Amino acid sequence: MASPPDNNTFYVTTPIYYVNDKPHLGHVYTTMVADVVARYHRLKGDDTFFLTGVDEHSTKVVDKAAEMGLSTEAWADQNAAAFRERFAGVDMTNDDFVRTSSDQHKARVTDYIAALLKSGDVYEGEYEGWYDAGQEEYVPEKKAKEADYKSPINRKPLVRKTEKNYFFRLSNYREELVRFFEDRDAAGCPFVLPAARKNEVINRIKEAEDVPISRTGTGGWGIPVPGDPEQSIWVWFDALFNYLTYVDTDDRRKYWQSGATHFIAKDILWFHAAIWPALLLAISKCEGYEWVFAQGGARDKLKVYSHSFWVSKAIIDGVEETIKDGKSTGNFLDPKTLDAMVEEFGTDALRYFLSTQGPLSTTDAEFSLEKYIEVYNTDLANTFGNSCSRVSNMIEKYLDPEDLPAASLIQWALEVTEVQPELHHQACIDQYRESFTDIELGRSAASAIRIVQYVDQLIDVTQPFKLAKDMETNGSQVLEILSECAEALRIASVLLWPFIPNKCEAFWRRIGFGHYAEQLKGNGKGDLDAWVRWGQLEPGTPIEKGEPLFPRYQVEKKS
Ligand code: ME8
Ligand code: MG
Repeated sequence: MASPPDNNTFYVTTPIYYVNDKPHLGHVYTTMVADVVARYHRLKGDDTFFLTGVDEHSTKVVDKAAEMGLSTEAWADQNAAAFRERFAGVDMTNDDFVRTSSDQHKARVTDYIAALLKSGDVYEGEYEGWYDAGQEEYVPEKKAKEADYKSPINRKPLVRKTEKNYFFRLSNYREELVRFFEDRDAAGCPFVLPAARKNEVINRIKEAEDVPISRTGTGGWGIPVPGDPEQSIWVWFDALFNYLTYVDTDDRRKYWQSGATHFIAKDILWFHAAIWPALLLAISKCEGYEWVFAQGGARDKLKVYSHSFWVSKAIIDGVEETIKDGKSTGNFLDPKTLDAMVEEFGTDALRYFLSTQGPLSTTDAEFSLEKYIEVYNTDLANTFGNSCSRVSNMIEKYLDPEDLPAASLIQWALEVTEVQPELHHQACIDQYRESFTDIELGRSAASAIRIVQYVDQLIDVTQPFKLAKDMETNGSQVLEILSECAEALRIASVLLWPFIPNKCEAFWRRIGFGHYAEQLKGNGKGDLDAWVRWGQLEPGTPIEKGEPLFPRYQVEKKS
């Protein structure tokens, strides 16, 4: 049934976001990280599948829709569209977009839960707890006690209530889960990344109890429990399955087998690092579903990467001074902040900032516009953008493109610039790849930027603009320096493409490499190995100078 896993197959996902509201910077962040990683894999020629989307069956969606005076469906449709548009607007290359209200998803989830009911890992039981009738919800024991067993909202006494519920037998999977974590560590392929996040999960797994997986009173919103339509599957148990339902088809199952990389934030680590693998262990014991968590497949390769949060100590001050036209907003998570940033700095700048400066590690990242401008000016305007303009302008001014040598002499350049061997472009490329494997996106981008810095250094030391004053004597040297620079920038632009695809493609067109963009179009595969090989700039290639790729951003001081 399942196709054999392929090492050159790559599957990456994001959380599916609640559609109770519009997408904000936090949602764009995780999807951006996944997009940069997906683009890297396509660039190196992997058969890549990138999935993002929305989580619809939350009661929050029902409540918010009612508040807005809309049907639940209409409100979900509207916000699902807002997520789709937002992601497309910043050039996300997701291969599909999950909606948990889709027929494919609902049908598959129904099948999985039916299989679990049959195997006994989902069973009918009773939930007992403190019920707040006014709020129509259960109050957790601790909170109930703190509130003196009265409603925290209306202060009416809470009632002890029992109701029928379906449960997942999580307690049965404690040992197996711990062993799963240990096996993955022993194989040198940890399941949870960064590794520091593991212990909090393990400790909780050791005490895990069975979890309710259904609800009543959702007004028909949600996926019914098979055979018991009064009960809806609790939103989390429906949502987690999205990673499987969308690739549980004959042509996509290979992606699941290759092991997904699930990008999430720490808020939802428990669900992904404990409940999800437990569900997979349980499903794979059901007839016909062994492949879901097979050795050599997802069981050995599935990964959860849990990043931290973007935070802001205060509402970003200075927004009003720096983002023009009064398009400023109070909160950095407000969708309007995103609009303003894209409008002012462009899509690539947002992509570069979020993916290289974000909270990938175990520490939160402070969001500030000052930092945004600094990174924009330093890396994009003054380094990559400026270097591209400088080199193409000089080539246009001093050289006849017919004269460009096919391959220039890196060794000579290394000698004159006294560049350390580790700064040599090959070392940068190696570090770039390694950093992608380790999901250190800031370091990957920095490795590419180092090649650009090398170009600047080469120009500063050799001063081709001075040599060009006497082309009769120095012509061949000027030619050599500038073609060396252009070649290094070509390589840097290939490496930077996952981060700033639009500007790299524009640069490729200027230097006669527009076919790279053509090849990558429509989620096509590139050929990283071949494209970063030194010495491909063709003699006779006309080099266009063009507008600055990233105009320097001047902070306007308010008087
Ligand atoms: O939890 N910094 O959806 P959600 C970084 N539907 N990332 C942030 C962020 C911030 N300040 N704020 C949000 C849900 N995120 C469920 C998920 S998955 C099967 C179901 C990102 O809309 C981050 O990825 O609350 C976080 O995990 C996610 O948005 C939560 O999105
Ligand atoms: Mg949330």
